[in-house]
Amino acid sequence: MLYIGIDLGTSAVKLLLMESGGKIVKIVSKEYDLSFPHPGWSEQNPVDWYEQSVAGLRELLDGQDKSKVAGISFGGQMHGLVVLDENDQVIRPAILWNDGRTTEETDYLNSEIGKDVLERDTANIAYAGFTAPKILWMKKNEPENFARIRKIMLPKDYLAYRLTGTFSTDYSDASGMLLLDVANKCWSKEMCGICGITEDMLPQLFESYDKIGTVKKEIAAELGLSDDVVVAAGGGDNAASAVGTGTVGEGKCNISLGTSGTLFISSDHFVPTNGHTALHSFAHSDGHFHLMGCMLSAASCNKWWNEEILHTKDYAGEQEGITDEKLGENHVFYLPYLMGERSPLNDPLARGTFVGMTMDTSRSDMTQAVLEGVIFGLRDSLEVAKSLGIDVKKSTIVGGGAKSPLWRKMTANILNIRLEFPASEEGPSMGGAMLAAVACGEYPDVKTACEKIVSITGFEDPDPVLAAKYEKRYQQFRNIYPALKSVFPQIQ
Ligand code: XUL
Repeated sequence: MLYIGIDLGTSAVKLLLMESGGKIVKIVSKEYDLSFPHPGWSEQNPVDWYEQSVAGLRELLDGQDKSKVAGISFGGQMHGLVVLDENDQVIRPAILWNDGRTTEETDYLNSEIGKDVLERDTANIAYAGFTAPKILWMKKNEPENFARIRKIMLPKDYLAYRLTGTFSTDYSDASGMLLLDVANKCWSKEMCGICGITEDMLPQLFESYDKIGTVKKEIAAELGLSDDVVVAAGGGDNAASAVGTGTVGEGKCNISLGTSGTLFISSDHFVPTNGHTALHSFAHSDGHFHLMGCMLSAASCNKWWNEEILHTKDYAGEQEGITDEKLGENHVFYLPYLMGERSPLNDPLARGTFVGMTMDTSRSDMTQAVLEGVIFGLRDSLEVAKSLGIDVKKSTIVGGGAKSPLWRKMTANILNIRLEFPASEEGPSMGGAMLAAVACGEYPDVKTACEKIVSITGFEDPDPVLAAKYEKRYQQFRNIYPALKSVFPQIQ
């Protein structure tokens, strides 16, 4: 049989066709617009997601035996607020995970409602990109739109709704709304009350590998699919990516260097953060739980630097000058906060910064600083995990940034851990296809699917001399944000 994984990303939707045994048959990618209507805001049109996904499905299935397609599932960008009216029409553009407009609402939740209350009811505190603060923002700033809300959903759930008619979400993605009681896996009545919404506006909750329905007859006919193709709930992109890299079970780690940068640690049990709320405590797509740190701009910093500033798409060419002897020696530092920062700073007003240039600083030193700054930011989340007693010794790595051997080497040495390279870098779409296979009964559970499908094809170990040099640089990096923190609000 064949299974389709749909990774609804921020720059594009990626669709992957997988055989029962895990072999990837075909991958298709379709881009859509991302708009920044104000500095720090980030929006997309959900209808574009649907139209590009259907166009992608058509291209993916072209030339394939469509009768063999048994299931579809998703990994989706998390936290985005999608709101529909009584006619199921999108009320306003989706407000995305990296949108920083909710400073006031986030402060209100964390200070007036209180972090302890939020942690008790949801296991997490408020971050600007989470869904609940965005609902409060709409209530205050767009009261007419707010009054029209009948359904609230996450990005991939909009796709699932259009494909099946089932208004659903899964626990991993729902965890990032700040509306889910993560420990008890149910909607929080208290949070609904605080946001001024009712529970019937929220989707039905499923495990990621649960069947939520089948593809609607008319869509199946249009795509040439049989009319019993199973759709599984799917997961937030990081949880789905963890499935795609075999990051299930106690204490495993996956790093994603995509538009965002994440450090994902799986756990067999719910992990209360006990006040250490710089990491998110979320449900996982395998039916268990995880901790996660999320940077808002990771590979997107490199994209911005190359494409917007240097006006080149030759990323590898720009990295050629960064020879081995330059690693750990760079006196230029870069703060990767182009969209503010989530983990661990929780500061939507932080901004990208270069520090330390001299007359002999070269273009390649600055490129190096961008690549290193992103990993120093990731190291901040690793430090929080360490403070919780979690000992990360190795991690898989996926995402666009993981394609660069230089960036992988920097990552292994700055984090001082072994990095393992899965056969496929297609984390969320691969995980989505695997979740579909579990929903169809091809594998009894997610763990078994991971054991049978995921293989590691290479690794990068830290070099003690280089790791020691980077340790020194990281300690220097850590001093820069605190020194600038009070400046950022002044320069907005
Ligand atoms: C995770 C997060 C990002 C998005 C990216 O909390 O906000 O990783 O899911 O798509």
